Amino acid sequence: MTDRIGPGANLLVTGGAGFIGSELVRQILGRRDGTRVTVLDKLTYAGNRANLAAVETDEEQAARFAFVRGDIADPGVVGPLVTQADAVVNVAAETHVDRSILDPEAFLRTGVIGVHVLLEAVRREAERAKAGERATAPRYLQVSTDEVYGDIPSGHSTESDPFAPRSPYAAAKASSELLVGAYRATFGLDVVTTRGSNTYGPFQHPEKLIPLFTTNALVGEPLPMYGDGMQVRDWLYVSDHAAGIEFVLRHGEAGEAYNVAGARLLPNREVIARLLEATGRDWSLVRTVPDRPGHDRRYAMDGSKLAALGWAPAVDFERGLPDTVAWYRTHPDWVAGARSGDWDSYYARQYGDRLAAGRSVTPLPTEP
Ligand code: NAD
Ligand code: DAU
Repeated sequence: MTDRIGPGANLLVTGGAGFIGSELVRQILGRRDGTRVTVLDKLTYAGNRANLAAVETDEEQAARFAFVRGDIADPGVVGPLVTQADAVVNVAAETHVDRSILDPEAFLRTGVIGVHVLLEAVRREAERAKAGERATAPRYLQVSTDEVYGDIPSGHSTESDPFAPRSPYAAAKASSELLVGAYRATFGLDVVTTRGSNTYGPFQHPEKLIPLFTTNALVGEPLPMYGDGMQVRDWLYVSDHAAGIEFVLRHGEAGEAYNVAGARLLPNREVIARLLEATGRDWSLVRTVPDRPGHDRRYAMDGSKLAALGWAPAVDFERGLPDTVAWYRTHPDWVAGARSGDWDSYYARQYGDRLAAGRSVTPLPTEP
């Protein structure tokens, strides 16, 4: 199988201080195969340099690592970094659907202008390669999401399905993909895209379902379940998602998108039941609260295109979930850091009225 990324490659990973980006960086550098990584990260509320501590405190890995604080929408920062890169992996984005409903603008700035700035820099480098000023053009990988397909009442989304995004977050991600496709068609750039499903694991910001419910349950705070809790997500462990991204970077066909499907489709209530079990709590902590506007009921992707290339997820939910709960239990300082800054005002805005209107939940006969 062709490998587009040679030994000792220099990778630019944007958003590498976030949840999935930092896992990708830890995986790549932890292999100690000579690959070099530069992270460009704005360090928004979701970015945390401490997520990269394992790399920065290891002498051998640190020698192959550089961190730049900056915005992907800033051409002055992006240009010189792309000049040095063999590949650009764009993990950076605003990522929380609820925040995109409260304040959509930052999602569009990063997802549209930021992606445009990255693509322009890659285009310049492709022209330099054509002019013989560098050996090869950089490959560009766009990290995208199953949310671009919208709500999928039945069946599984395949890569050729149309986009139908329904939140400002999903619309920003779909817009990023449209730009990537346009730069492929118009300028012939070497681009690939991954569409990952709902990801969970250590280092995920506690605004998302699994870390929010875990950290609240550990301290006995209420768990705000949106609506009837029967929305379905396809859960993918973070090490699998990062491995899927690197696999596509190395082996994906230029111009193609690949679903990185999860290991398990589950309704939220089932996830909550398992979290209660893992944290030693019961349903008295759960509140049904007013639903997310435009809430997609179900995501499900067909992962056969990537499976045909030889990749599949390795961590099942039965192992991944308890490991994740154990990580949050043993990292209270990390959790406290993530729940600082704008956390209290965000929490009051998102959950204040919801929890006030919340009602208790009776477990179904099948639920523990
Ligand atoms: P995250 O919110 O944990 O991290 C995002 C990172 O991007 C942060 O470090 C943040 O500081 C950085 N960032 C944001 N705007 C930036 C900008 N303008 N310039 C530079 N850096 C910026 O996100 P995550 O959950 O790790 O998601 C990473 C990527 O994967 C995103 O593109 C997201 O859309 C996609 N994705 C996430 C999931 C999931 O379930 N978490 C699933 C599928 C796809
Ligand atoms: O599907 C991939 C997407 O998964 C990624 O692209 C996004 O970046 C990521 O945030 C995630 O989006 P979701 O909206 O699916 O994830 P979230 O963890 O916010 O919610 C998961 C489900 O849990 C969803 O049905 C909403 C519900 N939920 C969430 C929160 C935060 C609740 O019931 N209560 C909550 O408080």
